[in-house]
Amino acid sequence: MNRSALIDRLETIDPYHRLGRVTRVVGILIESRGPRASVGDLCRIHITGERDPVLAEVVGFSGENLLLMPYAPIQRIAPESLVESTGHGLKIKVGDALIGKVLDGLGHPLDGSALNGLLTDYPTDQPPPNPLERPRIAEPLALGIRAIDGLLTVGKGQRVGIFSGSGVGKSTLLGMIARRAAADINVIALIGERGREVLEFIEADLGPEGLERSVVVVATSDQPALMRIKGALTATAIAEYFRSQGLDVLLMMDSLTRVAMAQREIGLAVGEPPTTKGYTPSVFALLPQLLERTGSAKNGTITAFYTVLVDGGDMDEPIADAARGILDGHIVLDRKIAEKGQYPAINVLKSVSRVMTNVVTPDHLKAANRFRALLAKYEEAEDLIQIGAYKSGSSPEIDEAIRLRPAMLDYLKQAVDEKVEGREAIDRLTKLVGGVD
Ligand SMILES: Nc1ncnc2c1ncn2[C@@H]1O[C@H](COP(=O)(O)OP(=O)(O)OP(=O)(O)O)[C@@H](O)[C@H]1O
Ligand SMILES: [Mg+2]
Repeated sequence: MNRSALIDRLETIDPYHRLGRVTRVVGILIESRGPRASVGDLCRIHITGERDPVLAEVVGFSGENLLLMPYAPIQRIAPESLVESTGHGLKIKVGDALIGKVLDGLGHPLDGSALNGLLTDYPTDQPPPNPLERPRIAEPLALGIRAIDGLLTVGKGQRVGIFSGSGVGKSTLLGMIARRAAADINVIALIGERGREVLEFIEADLGPEGLERSVVVVATSDQPALMRIKGALTATAIAEYFRSQGLDVLLMMDSLTRVAMAQREIGLAVGEPPTTKGYTPSVFALLPQLLERTGSAKNGTITAFYTVLVDGGDMDEPIADAARGILDGHIVLDRKIAEKGQYPAINVLKSVSRVMTNVVTPDHLKAANRFRALLAKYEEAEDLIQIGAYKSGSSPEIDEAIRLRPAMLDYLKQAVDEKVEGREAIDRLTKLVGGVD
């Protein structure tokens, strides 16, 4: 070991070791007598014959004992293994060196490469910005997706849910946004995905042009529940770090549902009751804590997208319902639309951007409302139109909705590699519905 490594090692040594001993292992929980530590504190469990300690976190108490959950699968822990408290929660290294990297839930590069350059220690648990110091969302963020920029305009610092069933195009849409959006940097958290999907997303959806302006954090479904939660917290902390540097950050979390499921697993292990459709109370405590951290702050902004799985389109499912209540908008992807080959499969009428009125011009808003009204008119009369029972001329509104239908569907469609630049989304929209800008 060289000199600087030794000094690094020395710095991590706490001369007043706070130590305890493992007394019991039950399922994914480790019980220990001591050390003195609080919930959320990081501990090292030293195992005889192993060089590296196992990292674990205090997740609760049982009488006098601590309940710990490990970051890695536990293998050789034995009774009386030494438990050492670090006296603080998990910290990661942050800095520009993270850009273009794929990291694990603890912020280490997955390919084992080193992080060079200036790095700062940064706790993964952060309080949300003071609500009184949060600037109001006033500026649009162009995402390069025509349907969203035109009809569901997102503001810098807005938090949006993407709701859909499986395989309707969430990951593809996130990849398109990551490649095209006018943000300074992307932070992408892939939580609870299958391992195979990770490489697929990075290589196909994100591509090299997306990756070079992104930090990707991965915690796959086979990892312990705590690592999946850490992945979500680590990605959020990295986004917060870049926001504190004055940047406009885009955070994408795929999927929030899997984060909630990981928290449920932890909750059930520590003995919480499953109260809402199998979800434990701590799930509903975690969601606002996590989602309130993004958004706008004094220096910069985090615009955030969280995907939420709604199988069978059940928008009242507890996680979807909780997320919708906290977020400032939702984009619904519809399987029926995808089945027609209409991608991105956004159901415009079911989607809403709660800040759109604050970030667009009155003319843009008027055109968007007109587009929606025509879509709604068509849907209302669709059954009649399909069976040929609608007589043209009976309603000028429906006639107009039918006339403009092909151009509107064409407007909503966007191929994966199709670029939408500058004012195209808005200009084409106003032209289409006959407004002036
Ligand atoms: N914009 C698009 N253009 C053409 N095809 C698309 C588009 N978006 C999605 N698809 C098709 O839909 C399939 C599923 O998309 P994607 O993997 O993005 O869905 P997902 O919602 O992320 O799925 P999962 O729930 O499994 O994560 C793709 O393999 C592709 O065939
Ligand atoms: Mg996906």
